[in-house]
Amino acid sequence: MAFVVTEPCIKCKYTDCVSQCPVDCFHEGPNFLAIDPDECIDCGVCVDECPVSAIMDAGDVPPEQAPFIELNARLAKTWPVIVATRAPLEGADTAAKQTGKFAELALT
Ligand code: SF4
Ligand code: F3S
Repeated sequence: MAFVVTEPCIKCKYTDCVSQCPVDCFHEGPNFLAIDPDECIDCGVCVDECPVSAIMDAGDVPPEQAPFIELNARLAKTWPVIVATRAPLEGADTAAKQTGKFAELALT
């Protein structure tokens, strides 16, 4: 089972996770990152890097976050790879305190 980026990442995109990934399996969308499950080697090193605890093992994803398992797999196939950490999105610290951000996920 791969690791999965979940809702807290939306509108934050801190990208601290990216620089730690040994196989460059993070893909970048407008306001969210997705992990390619076919590339992820389940090392888990990215988990503690995320300031909003958005990354978890697919096997530990709670029911309300379950759609993110399929979303990571699908979006990672179309979004470009991101390999370097950069500045978070404007307003990330405010968005970090928000819940219920699913509707604000930008697909393109
Ligand atoms: Fe990359 Fe490892 Fe995180 Fe998978 S678990 S996304 S391989 S750092
Ligand atoms: Fe998103 Fe956390 Fe990475 S906010 S970009 S999963 S460090």
